[in-house]
Amino acid sequence: MKIKTVKTTAIEGQMPGTSGLRKKTRVFMEPNYLENFIQATFDAIGGGTGKTFIVGGDGRFFNKDAIQVILRMAAGNGVSKVIVGQDGILSTPAASHLIRLNKADGGFILSASHNPGGLDEDFGVKFNAENGGPAPEGLTAKIFEATTTMNAYKTVDADDIDLSKTSTLSHGDMTVQIVNSVSDYQALMETLFDFDAIRALFASGFTMRFDAMHAVTGPYGTAILEDALGAPAGTVTNGVPLEDFGKGHPDPNPIWAKELMDVMMSDASPDIGAASDGDGDRNMIVGRGAYVTPSDSLAILAANAHLAPAYASGLAGIARSMPTSAASDRVAAKLGIQAYETPTGWKFFGNLLDANKVTICGEESAGTGSSHVREKDGLWAVLLWLNILAVRKQSVSEIVKDHWETFGRDYYSRFDFEDVALDAANDMMENLRGRLDDLTGKSFAGLTVVSADEFSYLDPVDGSTSNNQGLRITFEGDGRAVFRLSGTGTQGATVRLYLEQYSGQGGDINQDTQTALQQVRDAAFEMSDMKAMIGRIEPDVIT
Ligand code: G1P
Ligand code: ZN
Repeated sequence: MKIKTVKTTAIEGQMPGTSGLRKKTRVFMEPNYLENFIQATFDAIGGGTGKTFIVGGDGRFFNKDAIQVILRMAAGNGVSKVIVGQDGILSTPAASHLIRLNKADGGFILSASHNPGGLDEDFGVKFNAENGGPAPEGLTAKIFEATTTMNAYKTVDADDIDLSKTSTLSHGDMTVQIVNSVSDYQALMETLFDFDAIRALFASGFTMRFDAMHAVTGPYGTAILEDALGAPAGTVTNGVPLEDFGKGHPDPNPIWAKELMDVMMSDASPDIGAASDGDGDRNMIVGRGAYVTPSDSLAILAANAHLAPAYASGLAGIARSMPTSAASDRVAAKLGIQAYETPTGWKFFGNLLDANKVTICGEESAGTGSSHVREKDGLWAVLLWLNILAVRKQSVSEIVKDHWETFGRDYYSRFDFEDVALDAANDMMENLRGRLDDLTGKSFAGLTVVSADEFSYLDPVDGSTSNNQGLRITFEGDGRAVFRLSGTGTQGATVRLYLEQYSGQGGDINQDTQTALQQVRDAAFEMSDMKAMIGRIEPDVIT
């Protein structure tokens, strides 16, 4: 098969430091756009010759076409083997596992995560490195650099490969192995959790609803929850991956998983509800009538992880992103292990996991995971919850209440202001940044500021520093507000305001969340002058 070199042009590529390239689908479909990014990646990692890669995606529109492009380009770049998920399907955690399991040199994951899919929606590609985690900053910088100077890419003339059957084929000298998307991942889950105990739980009449949101976890949920663990057929809803996610927004939070939330708040509620996002790395957990915030879920999983076989000997440490609530820090303190606070984004956990400094990590944005892969893992979190429920034989809300009674409650909410004019958002942040040093001791909405700073992170493993990671203000009485601009939005700026109020140990754990947060919220609005700066204080999404 003849390798050919095709002329291409520089693209407005991935921003350095972000994990992957996320754009409108039509942009990816422009001639040579995807090709430029893939070639840039091969160039940045020192070429493809003799290497092995994993390829798969969340099943959104353009997934299969993009895989065919990558397969031809891999052959053109001298790659020796590519392992692809059947029908092009691989969840992000399953891809991370396959990279590690096969000692591959990396993987291409096709997804725009929880963003809607379709011709007029979003598409994305990210490269994960050989540890199975998102490309580190040094590598994303190299990829970015390469996209801007690119003038040709390498590919081959070859027909599309049939991805619908598990088989081993060849593209010239390159081997293409099409594997069952679920089985290796399922085998990993069986080593971590007590499947017998969970099977007994379902056999006893325990009920569940897992909403796959027409995204990638449908096949995983059906195989593991229904087929392997014996949950009744119909436990998995919206279980068939669709190219447009059924026109839904596959983001597992109370807003976008409203169908599930409504059932869980009704008389017909099963014992537990759960959902995952487009590419299967996020999770939502909700008990009968009781939503569990991701920050609480991280803390509860950490406090109870020893009940699952893989974590029976304890945790090395716990990491959370800075805007995530302090609930997991309290667990770490009680367990006598280290708590780490990292910038937003999963890649910062990778070094800590590789260095065995932490076992469990999580973010307020519905991402939880452990050392078993180098990505957050939606179904893993669901299975750990099930394992804990099977052992403790209590309801979700009993476990949550017990946790709050032991540790106190960290009331928590995130306000998102979407599609804000870039200048206005930057001005508001700049203005507040400029006043940080003067805030301490001042009062806003009746609350006195105890400290105010801009978060910067010194990676304890590689010594690198990441600056400008969010403005954080703590108040008297254990309240906190964090201001941050999103790095994943595709239109204008998204301002995120994270609010937190600790009840104190033995404090009132039965308040309504927004009521408990009212003072911190008003103080945040006042100190940032948000209404004047961005023109509104009504968020688009409250989680
Ligand atoms: C968002 C979340 C962050 C998560 C990222 C990727 O990023 O807030 O926790 O790691 O998506 O899933 P943001 O848009 O806030 O930059
Ligand atoms: Zn995701």
